[in-house]
Amino acid sequence: MANVIKDDASKSAKAAEAEHPSGDPRFKLVDRALKRLQYQQDALIEVLHTAQEAFGYLSEDLLIYTAHQLKLPLSWVYGVATFYHFFSLKPLGEHTCIVCLGTACYVKQAGEIVTKLQEEFGIEAGQTTPDGKLSLSTARCLGSCGLAPVLVLDGNVVGREAPASTVERVKALVAGQIAPVELKPASPSLELEEAEAL
Ligand code: FES
Repeated sequence: MANVIKDDASKSAKAAEAEHPSGDPRFKLVDRALKRLQYQQDALIEVLHTAQEAFGYLSEDLLIYTAHQLKLPLSWVYGVATFYHFFSLKPLGEHTCIVCLGTACYVKQAGEIVTKLQEEFGIEAGQTTPDGKLSLSTARCLGSCGLAPVLVLDGNVVGREAPASTVERVKALVAGQIAPVELKPASPSLELEEAEAL
């Protein structure tokens, strides 16, 4: 990777200035990030974050565009996008629920939580309900083991849940009975430390 970065460093400044041919204005957000980061190849994760924020997920077209703009092999971009669980290659539902299945969470019923959610919503982990309301996924350690079992609901960390209470919480969220902003982290000092956990 280091050699790739070095070899292409001089070229990257002149990297494809051409805009995406679709004219989709969301690509302008990606282009802005690319320019701000000076088309540096080691800014790939940040560019992918911006792309996912703009589009909701990383489509094949987005991966190809990012690879082209950063002069990176598509296989490399795809590998990064699939390695980190916070990237999604499929459109997500209106609400998202990630259940940590790391060891500390698993021994505190995280597996049962996943099973109950799958039963309640009729989907497997990694899937979205047919009505597009909920995407359920799992992750390895989220770096908050002291709060095991840990969930991330619509980007908010929730800890020390039981299977039954989790199902009720997610049902209420999907039904619009609680707003995402009402979901507070279990500890005010808690920060999601995905990068460190990976
Ligand atoms: S194992 Fe779940 S947060 Fe660490």
